[in-house]
Amino acid sequence: NAPRLIDPFARPITYLRVSVTDRCDFRCVYCMSENMTFLPKKELLSLEELDRMCSAFIGRGIRKLRITGGEPLVRRGIMTFFDGMTRHLDSGALEELTVTTNGSQLDRFATDLYAAGVRRINVSLDTLDAAKFQKVTRWGHLAKVLSGIEAARNAGLRVKVNTVALKGFNEDELFPLAAWCAREDMDLTFIEVMPMGDLGNEDRIGQYWPITDLRARLATRFTLTDLPESTGGPARYVRLEETGQKIGFITPLTHNFCESCNRVRMTCTGDLFMCLGQEDKASLRDILRAHPEDDGPLLRAIEAAIARKPEGHDFDYSRQKPDGQVSRHMSHTGG
Ligand code: GTP
Ligand code: 5AD
Ligand code: SF4
Repeated sequence: NAPRLIDPFARPITYLRVSVTDRCDFRCVYCMSENMTFLPKKELLSLEELDRMCSAFIGRGIRKLRITGGEPLVRRGIMTFFDGMTRHLDSGALEELTVTTNGSQLDRFATDLYAAGVRRINVSLDTLDAAKFQKVTRWGHLAKVLSGIEAARNAGLRVKVNTVALKGFNEDELFPLAAWCAREDMDLTFIEVMPMGDLGNEDRIGQYWPITDLRARLATRFTLTDLPESTGGPARYVRLEETGQKIGFITPLTHNFCESCNRVRMTCTGDLFMCLGQEDKASLRDILRAHPEDDGPLLRAIEAAIARKPEGHDFDYSRQKPDGQVSRHMSHTGG
């Protein structure tokens, strides 16, 4: 078997998140500015290059591959890439192929994703109110996303809903969102808003709604039981004893989960970031392009990058100024 990727802190790296485009059909206020400029197409890895890159990682022990963006399903021809990854699922090299999406294109792609071997997807949804949805996504339509989620479930995909906790925005929807997910049998995870990308117009400290507070509010109505570590992701889960429902919390700021980190992320331009919250990266695209017939240099570059994965991030809102801010956009690094 191929050597596994182990970082300097003895963490096996088995999870690769890949952003396949920096573009999106939404403009969520905590993610993008209204007039984003996107990368020129030639900067992006082609679909063939994406396949070669991901296959190299899988050959080095990546077991879980999550496709993100931007909005991954707006990348032209992306199903060709998914179909290509099916061979790694079939051979058993890859355990899970999955996607994080805003849901806007699921009507079109749900069946194809299932056919390619995707079984679970994460859909970002911050509110169930159509007017608020429009406000937070600027360009999105709630009805389209809801019908996308329905199409996904009809196609056999398990859906997890990701909700960014936003102060003064969806605080009042904590219970309605939980009830909706319980009724539809979908997992729900709340995410603390992270200081990614210089949006200029937005005050992320003002938007910041600590999950500790959210959790305390849930506890006024439900008995919460902490569940032991589960998916290998950063979410921690609780069970609401009254309903049996599972709710996840992703708390990079109030409780960082770096000690059990198992992941690295690649941008749509082939930069490998060893940590979401750090600037260090390895540019793999040029190495891949310089050696079209030989994966050796690429594999060595991947190993060298993993060998310098940092111990953790240092986002910090407590300083009340954007010191901890990472200027990269989430849509570039891929969530
Ligand atoms: P599963 O556990 O497989 O459901 O996936 P996941 O939670 O890793 O993936 P998902 O795309 O749903 O992640 C949700 C969000 O959590 C991401 O978009 C990020 O905002 C955040 N997140 C995921 N991984 C990390 C990480 O390593 N560090 C930090 N700070 N945030 C992360
Ligand atoms: N902080 C937290 N989550 C964010 N996302 C995008 N930008 C941010 C941010 N600044 C989330 C989206 C989606 C996932 C891919 O990343 O809502 O759930
Ligand atoms: Fe698009 Fe997701 Fe960013 Fe919203 S959060 S603009 S849906 S990439």
